[in-house]
Amino acid sequence: MVKVAVLAAGGIGQPLSLLLKSHPQVTELSLYDIVNSPGVAADLSHICTKAKVTGYKGQENLDAALAGCEIVVIPAGIPRKPGMTRDDLFNINAGIVKGLAEAIAKNCPKAFTCIISNPVNSTVPICAEVFKKAGTYDPKRLFGVTLLDIVRSSTFVSECKGTNPQETKVTVIGGHSGVTIVPLLSQVKGLTFSQEEVEALTHRIQFGGDEVVKAKDGAGSATLSMAYAAARFVDSLIEGAFMKKPVVECAYVESPLAAADGCSFFASAIELGPSGAEKILPIGPLSDYEQGLYKACVEQLKTNIAKGVNFVNQAA
Ligand code: NAD
Ligand code: LMR
Repeated sequence: MVKVAVLAAGGIGQPLSLLLKSHPQVTELSLYDIVNSPGVAADLSHICTKAKVTGYKGQENLDAALAGCEIVVIPAGIPRKPGMTRDDLFNINAGIVKGLAEAIAKNCPKAFTCIISNPVNSTVPICAEVFKKAGTYDPKRLFGVTLLDIVRSSTFVSECKGTNPQETKVTVIGGHSGVTIVPLLSQVKGLTFSQEEVEALTHRIQFGGDEVVKAKDGAGSATLSMAYAAARFVDSLIEGAFMKKPVVECAYVESPLAAADGCSFFASAIELGPSGAEKILPIGPLSDYEQGLYKACVEQLKTNIAKGVNFVNQAA
């Protein structure tokens, strides 16, 4: 029932495509990369699920890869090595995301676009600016995938409290890098935390990505946990938008929530429905500690957003 494109068949793109190949509602899976995608697609195509998988390699096949796609997921671009920030990826990944966004605007302007490529705080505004220039921008259809922060929060909190991670729900707002990641532990239902626990968990959630980058020791960043998180986001999007069963997930979208503090994009809980980001849910009450986290978040986030917006407008 749904045609999905995954733009990049690398560390994230491959396991994400594997998970999407098994999704009962995905009938076509279009896998694009500048290298390797036909082989990965051939491999996936032997799995006995109904999604038809096609691999497209090289810029000259990008239009064909996107034709008729209803959901496009973008994990294209270089990952971090130890010692790098996500912002250090900007110089290479900004241009990659801009090119892919132009192709989406041309070939499947109504697709729900889900951006994984870092720095997410800037690549989502880049995509929005490209869509605006093409006259195709619908803020309800563009998402930065921050769900890995929520997945990590569920894991780390459940390890701390001995709960079932699948039932441990944590809302994470802000952006997707270091101090812009703001977990709202004060809002976790049924659990209370000491200040020491709050500070340790917050730090681990904010810098969980660095933990993986360090452990992989130069071989990249999170791929498998990211594929899990992205597949869950696509599943929720399919349920909300195509099966009309509203679902709440966190994502980074154009949002009024921190607009007064200079941030036109902000991650929060959103209700996914037929039009995409149907409702942006309120942040809710913050503890004093979380108010401090919020202040640090918006200071950095507004700079990251402006950098993405300027990249597209200066390049014009
Ligand atoms: P990777 O190097 O394993 O794979 C990246 C793929 O992108 C490669 O196959 C490469 O050929 C492809 N690529 C490069 N330019 C392209 C283009 N113009 N069009 C299509 N494909 C292109 O990297 P990875 O581990 O899969 O990570 C990809 C990105 O995802 C990185 O920027 C990383 O920082 C980011 N990431 C984000 C999150 C998140 O939570 N949002 C989590 C993990 C990683
Ligand atoms: C993550 O949170 O794991 C990703 O954003 C990748 C990274 O660079 O840390």
